[in-house]
Amino acid sequence: MPVIKVEDIAHVRFAAPDLGAMRTFLEDFGMTVFDADGRLYGKGSDGRPFVHVTEPGEAKFLAIGLRAASIEDLERLAQSEGVAVERLAEPGGGSIVRLIDPDGYGVEVVAGQQVEAPAPAPFAQAFNTAALKVRQREPIRLTPAPAHVRRIGHAVLKVSDFRRSEAWYKERFGFLTSDEVEAAKNVPLGAFMRCDRGDKLADHHTIFLAQLPGKLGLLHAAFEVANLDDLMLGHDHLKARKYRAAWGVGRHVMGSQIFDYWKDPFGNELEHWTDGDLLTAADPPQKLPMSALLAVQWGSPHPMFAGAVAPPPAIVSTITALQLRLKRLFRRQPKGQPA
Ligand SMILES: [Fe+2]
Repeated sequence: MPVIKVEDIAHVRFAAPDLGAMRTFLEDFGMTVFDADGRLYGKGSDGRPFVHVTEPGEAKFLAIGLRAASIEDLERLAQSEGVAVERLAEPGGGSIVRLIDPDGYGVEVVAGQQVEAPAPAPFAQAFNTAALKVRQREPIRLTPAPAHVRRIGHAVLKVSDFRRSEAWYKERFGFLTSDEVEAAKNVPLGAFMRCDRGDKLADHHTIFLAQLPGKLGLLHAAFEVANLDDLMLGHDHLKARKYRAAWGVGRHVMGSQIFDYWKDPFGNELEHWTDGDLLTAADPPQKLPMSALLAVQWGSPHPMFAGAVAPPPAIVSTITALQLRLKRLFRRQPKGQPA
């Protein structure tokens, strides 16, 4: 049994040397932005106090925030970890337990934050399909504008040892595997994991831990927007403002979201997404190949495959599997364990 079962992701926290540049980007990205106590906060329209925090300092990813169901859960977690429950002295108040994960990432588990009533969602019109005409006698008239961030949905962390990090997050927070990704048979590189909310629906993934080559860090944080029109208007807006596009628009395989990735002025990657899969705790884990991680069901190919001489996906998987095997071999040898 895990120590607690978190309900959702709460926020991501960064440091940046220019809060003004971050503010402009976040507004263009579709958040409501405000200052408090020298920090910059971005919020969505779901009524939660904040989803994105920037502190002054050298550009850096600092922490992910997870939301516990209750103060009692925070106390249980704090006791299990031998740390204190602290007052969360930030907008919305509440309490916080601060942990450090095996790769040194901050993990801020919060509970008891004040929640306002969610703002009415824009673009509430349903899409007509060939079979189902639900939008009737109501034209679509869109105005150019940033997207509307509703909420934070997930974060993707690069890890140095997937199995170690998977155990750490599952034992503490009750995450369930939705899809495990394999570079080759029995060579996992990571997993998309969701919150265990019993028979209530949860996003396909709240956290994705990925053991991939290169520097550790946050791969991206993702924010749900109103719908496809909202995402596309947001894409046009960010493009017009000459921000750096990272990948998109397309539809993922794992999680099925329609996605659009952009870089903030400090190199952090943020995603707009809409129309993702929802699962309950009863849905069994799946295993999928790395090719499915990088593939799209439609839309822009992954940047690795976008050039004129794109590497075959099978070669990318083979090289990644080899790197993972070598890393695991050399890690285990000193302890005398079998590779
Ligand atoms: Fe994502």
